[in-house]
Amino acid sequence: MIAMTPPMGWNSWNTFGTNISDALIREMADAMVDKGYRDAGYTYLVIDDCWSKRQRGERGELVPDPEKFPNGMKAVADYVHSRGLKFGMYSCAGVMTCGGYPSSFGHEFEDAAQFASWGVDFLKYDFCNFPSGADCKTAYITMSMALKASGREILFSACNWGQQEPWKWMRSIGAHMYRSTGDIQDNFVSFRDILRSQLDNFCMSGNCCFNDIDMLTVGMYGKGNVALGDKCTDSDYRTQFGLWSFFGVPLMLGGDLRNMNDFCRELTQNRDLIRIDQDRECRPPYQIYHGRPQYGSTDWWTIPWDSALSFIRHLSDNEFAIGLFNLSDADGQITFTFANAGLPWQSGFGMDLRDVFTGEEMTSARDYLTPEVKAHDCRIFIGRLKKL
Ligand code: GLA
Repeated sequence: MIAMTPPMGWNSWNTFGTNISDALIREMADAMVDKGYRDAGYTYLVIDDCWSKRQRGERGELVPDPEKFPNGMKAVADYVHSRGLKFGMYSCAGVMTCGGYPSSFGHEFEDAAQFASWGVDFLKYDFCNFPSGADCKTAYITMSMALKASGREILFSACNWGQQEPWKWMRSIGAHMYRSTGDIQDNFVSFRDILRSQLDNFCMSGNCCFNDIDMLTVGMYGKGNVALGDKCTDSDYRTQFGLWSFFGVPLMLGGDLRNMNDFCRELTQNRDLIRIDQDRECRPPYQIYHGRPQYGSTDWWTIPWDSALSFIRHLSDNEFAIGLFNLSDADGQITFTFANAGLPWQSGFGMDLRDVFTGEEMTSARDYLTPEVKAHDCRIFIGRLKKL
């Protein structure tokens, strides 16, 4: 079985776009191993769009661009496998990929067989140039079947950008993850809005089929293919990675792993965050509603009430994660109310917590947490019940 927990890996698109090559993929595979990503759980290395020639070959087959991939794709796959990683590729449900390359509409079974023959373990399947008269669900179930028929275990990463509410049907057609939104950009507003748009849908994400809110941009700092808008700060990235892992979604890194700075490397390899993301029960977080401030004046409430998000997530082995996210542009306090998480003071229970970023321990927390959370920043704790 694959994708029992959210898939983790790296994808070429966010940083490199069309500038991909055999040499780059090998270097990235080396970086994934040498810099600790593989051992932290990032196992899929995925080549996105723009890898093929502009035309199919004489037998109708997809042909890797000989300038970018002079040794063919099997050689790349073999190298990736030799480093203990899994190999991912990209096609599209339409008649051309988003970059204008041949794609799999009407060619699903041949293409899936070809991917399998190269040793592909993961297929991202995009939605550009989809014929207006065709049916989206049929296109995705057809490729899902084609992958099964290929005889190889291939993770199906369906990417139809949330068209026709994929959270309601992608699980039933056999996909392992589905893109639920448009493309991420390397700025805070973009990923904040992506996360918010899915708050009601995470309840349908779970083992074997996950809501995919797009590849991460951690570490890009305004460079690369999706660098638009205001350049991110370290706290923006802490919040991006904190949200993705707290919500238990696929963690597909998009930065250049060959030279991520220490902050981003440590952030994306944070053991507690990966433990939360990968929890085997795959439960969605529960939102703690504290509502609008009740006392007339709102002057003391510096964060707009809908931007101060607080959640508890039930994890396996009686652990819990608590996440407080300040999605506003102002510093302020965020309240987590234990009573609203099922622990009224009469229960006689609180929690022993550890801050996942600082390692700081907080024993016997009860009633409320009201930490200061800077603009665009977050606090995440992992912990256990404590009899007081
Ligand atoms: C779409 C997808 C992106 C990326 C590009 C490639 O926009 O949503 O993730 O794959 O196509 O062209």
